[in-house]
Amino acid sequence: MTKRVAILISGRGSNMRALCEAMASPDFPAKPVLILSNRPDAAGLDYARAEGLPHAVIDHTQYEAREAFDAALDAELSAAQPDLICLAGFMRLLTPGFVEKWAGKLINIHPSLLPKYPGLKTHQRALDAGDAEAGCTVHYVVPEMDAGEIIGQARVPVLPGDTAETLEDRVREAEHTLYPDCLLRLVSQA
Ligand code: GRF
Repeated sequence: MTKRVAILISGRGSNMRALCEAMASPDFPAKPVLILSNRPDAAGLDYARAEGLPHAVIDHTQYEAREAFDAALDAELSAAQPDLICLAGFMRLLTPGFVEKWAGKLINIHPSLLPKYPGLKTHQRALDAGDAEAGCTVHYVVPEMDAGEIIGQARVPVLPGDTAETLEDRVREAEHTLYPDCLLRLVSQA
């Protein structure tokens, strides 16, 4: 049975695009049912529009409390009836109530080899530590940030002369394979 996938973005949306391109393959057992952005100007929305994919904006600046924003998010998602919700560069912390409600269906991609470097500036932190390799992690979302069960990881080398930007580009390329691979694995499970 074709699984229903929602994708939450805040910006460029390159991972969202990688997921949607994978799902466009006729034998992929999932389809995007909602691309949701908390920012009206997210570049990723252009792709959703161009491809005619269902999309929506819930502008977080219109909500005073995090709970109210998450309630609006929850209502939009509930209407789309997703089997899985993929966070893809979604830059809002979600309330524990929201995370608990969608537990087991909510996954994220993070640009480090968790449990190393949860949070921000992961590439600079890997460089500062002198790490020989970096990478990305797809994991379940739990109330504690970047701490949920790991679904998959991809590794890339740190190369001489790397800056946070060059390392970020290499990691992002790996993300574009890892995230669709993990999605396929999850939606293929009974
Ligand atoms: C990615 O590096 C992802 O790991 C992190 O946010 C970034 C999103 O990039 N969570 P994009 O919007 O998918 O291009």
